[in-house]
Amino acid sequence: MTIILVSISMQNIAIIYGIDAMYVCLCKGVTDKQIRNAINEGACSMRDLRDTLDVANQCGKCGRDCKSLLNESSLAGAASGSMNTSQFVAA
Ligand code: FES
Repeated sequence: MTIILVSISMQNIAIIYGIDAMYVCLCKGVTDKQIRNAINEGACSMRDLRDTLDVANQCGKCGRDCKSLLNESSLAGAASGSMNTSQFVAA
């Protein structure tokens, strides 16, 4: 028996299915697009996302995906050299 593990990011899933935005926080109805916009406007930690969009404040199941979006943004910024990665702190 062979098990193949595949890691697909939320962004790749959206691209595969041609989806413009996906809900990340079902409790508050917040999409990945809204989270990315908040990050682009300066949110750099889970605390910032909680304060800005009220994500991860109810059941908390979206917290991991929110952190992934923060990390994606951090890595993309580091690759392009446009952001200071030391400012990204998971709170
Ligand atoms: S899915 Fe975000 S708090 Fe429940």
